[in-house]
Amino acid sequence: MNYKKYTRMYHPVPLENREWCNKEITKAPIWCSVDLRDGNQALYSPMTIEEKIEFFEYLVKLGFKEIEVGFPAASSTEFDFIRRLIEEDRIPDDVSIQVLTQAREHIIARTIECLKGAKNAIVHLYNSTSTLQRDVVFRKSREEIKQLAVDGAKLVKELVDSQLDGNIRYEYSPESFTCTEMDYAVEIVNAVNEIFEPTSERKVIINLPSTIEVATPNVVADQIEYMCKHLNHRENLIISTHPHNDRGTGVAVAELAILAGADRVEGTLFGNGERTGNVDIVTVALNMFTQGVDPKLDLSHIDEAIEIFERCNKMPIDPRHPYAGDMAYVAFSGSHQDAIKKSFDRFEEHPENKWANPYLTIDPADIGRKYEPIMINSQSGKGGVSYVMENKYGYTLPKKMLVEFSATINDMSDAKHTVLENEEIHMAFKDIYMNLNSPIKTYSYKSQHDEDITIVNAMVEYNSKVSSISGKGNGPLDALCAGLRKFLGIDFEICEYTEHALERSSASKAATYIAIKENGDDKKIFWGVGVHQNINTASIYALVSAVNRMLMAEDKQK
Ligand code: KIV
Ligand code: ZN
Repeated sequence: MNYKKYTRMYHPVPLENREWCNKEITKAPIWCSVDLRDGNQALYSPMTIEEKIEFFEYLVKLGFKEIEVGFPAASSTEFDFIRRLIEEDRIPDDVSIQVLTQAREHIIARTIECLKGAKNAIVHLYNSTSTLQRDVVFRKSREEIKQLAVDGAKLVKELVDSQLDGNIRYEYSPESFTCTEMDYAVEIVNAVNEIFEPTSERKVIINLPSTIEVATPNVVADQIEYMCKHLNHRENLIISTHPHNDRGTGVAVAELAILAGADRVEGTLFGNGERTGNVDIVTVALNMFTQGVDPKLDLSHIDEAIEIFERCNKMPIDPRHPYAGDMAYVAFSGSHQDAIKKSFDRFEEHPENKWANPYLTIDPADIGRKYEPIMINSQSGKGGVSYVMENKYGYTLPKKMLVEFSATINDMSDAKHTVLENEEIHMAFKDIYMNLNSPIKTYSYKSQHDEDITIVNAMVEYNSKVSSISGKGNGPLDALCAGLRKFLGIDFEICEYTEHALERSSASKAATYIAIKENGDDKKIFWGVGVHQNINTASIYALVSAVNRMLMAEDKQK
């Protein structure tokens, strides 16, 4: 690992008294989607015109007001697509399309030709300015590269003025800005602005791209703040950031750039784009949303965005992608599941509260998602099992029973080496605890009260023989316990009893949970569950289930 081969590609930023680190994001920037240009140019299989139209319309629906629709001089597909948008009147009046051009004569000419008839458009001119690009790729001096930009700007202005009559604005990007010397970046942008002549009515967009990420985000923030403080006509400029993601910090760069003075962010949905992508606008926007700032993009149906993204780009979204990934709202860890459940419960009790959940920064419902299915594996605890049993199937297990059942579920997952589906957990619950009628089964039972005493007579089947049993107690369950104790020759007593309605309808069932304790040295506890329309029957089933579990355990011991 020869790290000595590498060196820093950015230049020191002579910024004094930096201010961005004391600021907060308080409003959404102007968003510019570059999905149809930077994103599309980075696909193995670029979008067809029909896909581009669909994607464009979807971006409009999400709320983008500025959309870079292509590099019209690059191919006839790009050109024809943009012509269709204009000629078929598909661009809403409050949306500006943006087109990219290099600072070269024939490319500029073709770009302007493409915009004929456009009501609102941005001509985006760029040339590369970094030390490396100047020396190695273009072999031109600072002066020569500046002249290229100035000549490009002059031609853009001349052709826009002579050939277009819509509301046409200008954007200039010193490509590879973050690897450019700061004094030179200021010099070249000022020179371009001498041509574009920004005014308060017609501001010029100065886009400062991290064409390639080469530094920690704080360095980019310094660079942006430096530009904001040193450019002429700052008040008539819209400072834009265009982060790529080579170091995996595109989102952080966009956020710090906003703190440092950027008014605008260029990026793509879910971070598609050259190499490791452009900045993911969905994440930046939802990060704002979760801080109580209106992102001015409607991401309330994130699955729709994913569907269109994946189909048109022919690229999947990583399951762990922030906000959008399939796993984004799945918790495996028991303590996480427990905390999430408790926080959901609290929020349900107090909807007037602000969202607060230790493991979910966003309420999944706000973007059309659900916290489900909770995945249960061998690391999961009772919180997850309780969530599944309660929210999917309506059972509120008593705490002590939940501890026992969760341990069983963890063992099952451990043995299987994988997560358990909700239905597997439900089936296990039924098989282990519910309405068990073997080895003993009750057929019928009658109870009668004699002053404070209840007498129960029941028919039971045990070891393939039907017998009648009876018992006395201070209630039907107590009497049945007495009958079973006598008949089976075992000693136990009821130590826990809980019940609740299972469905909230007229045909609702009752669920009863009973624990019996062995009256011996061991004092083991056995849980049973009864479910029936009749609450008394449910409790008898629960008791018999618990007794059956005790009998089975004794049988195993023999
Ligand atoms: O990444 C970049 O620098 C670009 C420019 C064309 C703005 O995409
Ligand atoms: Zn780019």
